[in-house]
Amino acid sequence: MTVHDRSAFIIGGTGQIGRATAARLVAAGYAVTLGHRRPLPAGELPDGATSLQVDRNDTEALLGALDGHDLVVDTVAFTPYHGTQLARLAGRVGSLVVISTGAVYQAPGLPVPIPETWPTVEREAHDYPSGKAALERCLLATPGLPVSILRTGVLHGPHGRSLDHWSFIKRALDRRPYVVLAQDGLSRFPTSAVANVAEIVHLCALKPAARVLNVADDPLTVAEVAARVFAVMGHEAEIVTFAGPSRPDGLGFHPWNVPEPIVFSTDRVRAELGYRPALSYDDALRQTIEWAVPAVERARARGGGWPDVFPDLVARHGPDVWFPYAAEDAHVAGA
Ligand SMILES: NC(=O)c1ccc[n+]([C@@H]2O[C@H](COP(=O)([O-])OP(=O)(O)OC[C@H]3O[C@@H](n4cnc5c(N)ncnc54)[C@H](OP(=O)(O)O)[C@@H]3O)[C@@H](O)[C@H]2O)c1
Repeated sequence: MTVHDRSAFIIGGTGQIGRATAARLVAAGYAVTLGHRRPLPAGELPDGATSLQVDRNDTEALLGALDGHDLVVDTVAFTPYHGTQLARLAGRVGSLVVISTGAVYQAPGLPVPIPETWPTVEREAHDYPSGKAALERCLLATPGLPVSILRTGVLHGPHGRSLDHWSFIKRALDRRPYVVLAQDGLSRFPTSAVANVAEIVHLCALKPAARVLNVADDPLTVAEVAARVFAVMGHEAEIVTFAGPSRPDGLGFHPWNVPEPIVFSTDRVRAELGYRPALSYDDALRQTIEWAVPAVERARARGGGWPDVFPDLVARHGPDVWFPYAAEDAHVAGA
């Protein structure tokens, strides 16, 4: 029997960050409990972890489950209400790590790169960014709460419901000879591999403090991301670009279609915690692809397809813009 001297509870432990973090913490010797609402299908519990069905909106049940843990990781806190729940853990747990988002940064006029000190949105009505920003302020204002707040970019990894890289993975599977990208293929948007988010969670637990940290991969252009996916999958494709935004027929669409680069500074996490990526970009891609391709094949075998595996891609942009192959063929033929 393994004897653990530290314990961790992950709220949202069966999600993509939760699973990656569970694996990292189990490897570091923690007894890990995953908190989630729905029953976990047989065989899905990550090695070495246990699970507990709890709704984080049931405050008494939640706090009862969290009490006494060395580390609490919250992947599904979105509002100041969630902040007030977590604030009650001051003095009752060792430390906390709460997942936030880079969407909290106040635009327009974002610097390149964006440091953690850049102002965050403040609005009375709480949408996703302002709810997260208010949550952060609530946590940081709580005395005696060693909480690390991680502002991540767009996540990628196994078990994600919104895998932007699918844009290029599917093209490689379809043996497409080219991809056409708007904005000259130069858009930069922060992405975060979940394995490296997990690595940073572990580093935060080793050095508890009240802090905010940006968490992002090295800033690649969208053309570079496409090229890396194709290279990892052994697919040769031309990357065709044009200036300006994507066209109404979908030509040039990609998920990071921003006219100005958005880049997070990761100087602080490197300096404060000595962070270095646990997985290289290409290895993180390989891990994701190894999960995503069979997951989509299983969905197809059930009569569905990729929108069933990545419903959040469809929720964000609809099902039709992702793969405008006819528009690409016409564009390349007319070039
Ligand atoms: N996706 C992105 O690109 C992105 C970008 C920036 C930041 N983020 C942040 O990342 C976090 C999401 O992490 P993720 O992608 O790992 O999540 P995920 O894969 O969607 O998983 C969510 C997890 O939370 C559990 N859960 C949801 N509601 C719950 C509740 N009320 N009580 C208890 N458990 C609950 C889910 O299981 P059950 O459904 O069984 O409860 C599941 O385990 C969010 O904080 C989001 O703001 C995401």
